[in-house]
Amino acid sequence: MSRLKVGVLVSGRGSNMEALAEACGADDHPAEISVVVSNRPDAAGLERAASFGIATEVVDHTAFADKVAFEAEVIRVLEEHGVELICLAGFMRVLSEDFVARFPHKILNIHPSLLPAFPGLEVQRKAIEHGARFSGCTVHFVVPEVDAGPIVLQAVVPIEQDDTEDTLAARILEQEHRIYPEAVRLFAERRLRIEDRVVRILPQTEA
Ligand code: GAR
Repeated sequence: MSRLKVGVLVSGRGSNMEALAEACGADDHPAEISVVVSNRPDAAGLERAASFGIATEVVDHTAFADKVAFEAEVIRVLEEHGVELICLAGFMRVLSEDFVARFPHKILNIHPSLLPAFPGLEVQRKAIEHGARFSGCTVHFVVPEVDAGPIVLQAVVPIEQDDTEDTLAARILEQEHRIYPEAVRLFAERRLRIEDRVVRILPQTEA
């Protein structure tokens, strides 16, 4: 069985990357991580990836004259590794329209809220301060507008009265680690069909 080649982009801790690496380590998983790319040389995710025997590359955005040059190098690395699906996993750079257009419906992102509620940053704090009763996480296809692409999977996490940003983030993260590998599996099995902005999940037999 030839597995779908996945490139994971990280900027930090890399726990979602690790969840993907663990899932892809199973014999029957239809995807494999070909490379992990970090825009930050000190990202903990790099060491985590290396501990799985996954190739790692640093493309430090501060070393490039502009976004075009930075993204050109990221694209070069991804193509060198034959990447067929890009997974953003705590990657904290906004990708340009040109980058997104180069990989149409081939970039996934995980976001720690129930989109379209709370796009952007520090969203667990914002959900608590807003008084929301539920939050969660979303895996979606990436489009040029930030956190706005077609939704693949979501998980709901209730917000408790005594939640802090950290306790809520930890419970959401558990769900992220569950749904991101599942979304990659569905993509690899060609079971995601995008109709306008709605993602239909095909049953296994129809894929
Ligand atoms: C995760 O909670 C992810 O959803 C979030 O950053 C964290 C990265 O953790 N991503 C975003 O906020 C993207 N806008 P990780 O490095 O341990 O996977």
